[in-house]
Amino acid sequence: MINVHQQTFHLITDNTSYWLQISDFGHPLHLYYGPRTLDDPHQSFVNNTQIETGTTIKYHPDHTQYSLDHYGLEYSSQGRGDYRTPSFKAQMPDDSFVADFRYVDYEILDKKPTLSTLPSARQSQQTQTLKIILKDNTGVTMHLYYSVYEQEDFISRCVVVLNDSDQDLILHKVMSLQLDLLADQLDIITLHGDWAKETHVQRHPLSIGTYQNQSRRGTSSNQHNPGVMVVGQQTTQHLGTAYGFNLLYSGNHKTEVELNPHGYTRVLVGLNDDLFQWPLAPGSVFESPEALMTYSQKGINGVSQNFHQFIRTHLLPLGHKHPVVYNNWEATRFDFNHQKIVSLAKVAKSFDIETFVLDDGWFGDRQSDHAGLGDYKVNTKRLPKGLKPLIEDIRALGLDFGLWVEPEMVNQQSDLYQAYPEWVLRTPTKTPLEGRNQLVLDLCLKEVQDYIIHQLTTLLDTYPISYIKWDMNRPQSDWYSPSVTNQAMVPHLYMIGLYRVLDEVFGQRPDVTLEMCASGGNRFDLGMLCYASQIWSSDNTDAGERLKIQEGLTYFYPLCTISNHLAASPNPSTLRSISLSTRFNVAFFGSYGLELDITDLNSLEKKIIKDQIQRYKQYRHHIEHGKFSRLETNQDYRYSWQIEYENEFLLGYFQTLYQSSPKFDKIYPVGLASNKAYQVVSFPQKVEIQKFGALLNHVLPFTIKKEGLFIKTVPNYYALDDASETYRGSGALLLNGLILNQQFVSTGYRPDLRMLGDFGSTLYLITEEKE
Ligand code: DGJ
Repeated sequence: MINVHQQTFHLITDNTSYWLQISDFGHPLHLYYGPRTLDDPHQSFVNNTQIETGTTIKYHPDHTQYSLDHYGLEYSSQGRGDYRTPSFKAQMPDDSFVADFRYVDYEILDKKPTLSTLPSARQSQQTQTLKIILKDNTGVTMHLYYSVYEQEDFISRCVVVLNDSDQDLILHKVMSLQLDLLADQLDIITLHGDWAKETHVQRHPLSIGTYQNQSRRGTSSNQHNPGVMVVGQQTTQHLGTAYGFNLLYSGNHKTEVELNPHGYTRVLVGLNDDLFQWPLAPGSVFESPEALMTYSQKGINGVSQNFHQFIRTHLLPLGHKHPVVYNNWEATRFDFNHQKIVSLAKVAKSFDIETFVLDDGWFGDRQSDHAGLGDYKVNTKRLPKGLKPLIEDIRALGLDFGLWVEPEMVNQQSDLYQAYPEWVLRTPTKTPLEGRNQLVLDLCLKEVQDYIIHQLTTLLDTYPISYIKWDMNRPQSDWYSPSVTNQAMVPHLYMIGLYRVLDEVFGQRPDVTLEMCASGGNRFDLGMLCYASQIWSSDNTDAGERLKIQEGLTYFYPLCTISNHLAASPNPSTLRSISLSTRFNVAFFGSYGLELDITDLNSLEKKIIKDQIQRYKQYRHHIEHGKFSRLETNQDYRYSWQIEYENEFLLGYFQTLYQSSPKFDKIYPVGLASNKAYQVVSFPQKVEIQKFGALLNHVLPFTIKKEGLFIKTVPNYYALDDASETYRGSGALLLNGLILNQQFVSTGYRPDLRMLGDFGSTLYLITEEKE
């Protein structure tokens, strides 16, 4: 809902209020964003005693107190007295870099406008949009859009600039969202990492100065994900002030958070202004990507849950599906043929896997990653019978078929590059640089976009493919395209080209599930989630490393978008050995698949994996639609995650490091009714007997040798039952922390003793006890 009181605007959601007001001089001032307030514009939002101080610029000679530096602003530029980081920079029609946008009018739209070149969030039934029209006296117009999602507690923002003057101008910076909070004592939470260690959570206090979270890599990046939270310093996972921001964009982004000496915290979210310029001829228009913001008093989980719900409802492709997949990459890499793939598919089918995804290596002259990218015709050296018979064999088993592609890239050893060497990003004077032996196609060029669209639609229309894994394995460099006059347009134009390709290929094919991937999570962002149902989170499939990566992703992204696979042990990324149960328990919190060589499993492993898949399917609906929370723990080296769905609670408890003589562990579920009775039951799982090492000789009636027959054969069909735990209690007891059974302490054994060790874990189900 949007209420207007003269020139004061109140944007209302179920739990939040956002107030802005047009000043006497026509500047949109920010008044308030936080818990829902009365709909009364005469509240004491701001400190009104602004006295002219030493080093400020007076906006008007007769109004000594009005200096832009002293107000919260809805949008800001340079050269008129506000010295904080600006949201807008341009060489204006008068050649200066000074802009002063002032209020002209407003409109309330009963829907949310969509962007013409970039992805947009779908509206809800009640979405209203406030459009504030501003003008600079050189003739440049700016529209600030605020789309209000009431039930979701979200406001989506974007900015459109129109050159209504008769002179050219050059945009240098157009941020999508500015929020000037009248608050300090805040922490910033960001997600950082690298290849194979994406989205590690970082939280630290904001001090005076500016903090930047940005990517210049041409992707949203595995180094600095665009999701950012600004929270109170006392805010916990469950309680306290928390603001969340994210951008519907997959390229160079920037969030700047500046705390100034007056105690204002300015948050700017949008396109990165490095490597960005945009000439705007008279009559033309520029649209910023859409930025989302939400507020919650329910702490960090509150913001995460808002994002999860919003993404599922308003971004993900309608009817998004998350089949249990088998992907052959870690099992075969480039070493496969028809027979090997079919034998993997047979085992996959016996596990009741739903989709077989054929990864890299099926096309062109792709014997390794040195050749073939760009040529999406079957690799007849590897698959002499072709793709069709392979797909038929897989589908005849009862599996759907998925295919890997990397359409934005080309190897120099490819027919495509030999025919069109000018189709890559390359400056006129420098040899373009390779990453993973590949160059980046120039998606600013319409003919390149058309080529990719043709290649992919031909594949999708020729073969019964229900799933595409779209990969992208290097950052960009050598930004230059002959199609543009100002080369600083290239990174953004590339993204516009990419979104056009995605629209053309997948817009008409809603039945094809798209999994996005960029060397793992190098492009895990809201732009991609407008097309892809899920994103491959990381090339690191080690469950221990995945705890950190997946926990970080849950700060912004719902579980169904987080693509996880059960992988081999020792893990190919880390050489770390982790039990089958923990590998499953971690991957369970997301969209599930397998990636290890399933033709090389013993009969016990096969049985366990089959049971695990059944369990996953049993709770898939909970995972996709439930409410996810990160839980408190009472010790270090623990992760605890919960999914709540229709009065059932699934809880994962993970221990990364065993410490001797451990104190008791507690779980702290949330969302239970204090006065109801609950039962907590662990899911059955096995403990490999090798885990006990020399201890086996203390319990068995005979002596076994480390390399002997017993150790070589028995684990193939026998493992111990892990602790069978059952607890009962009222919601009040459980909410206060349920004490779990004792962990293994080097002596004694009981069937309910928890045998976690390093990287041990348990899944629990909490249900209400019926009379
Ligand atoms: C990187 C991806 O993240 C992997 O899963 C795999 O698809 C390889 N590329 C294939 O080259």
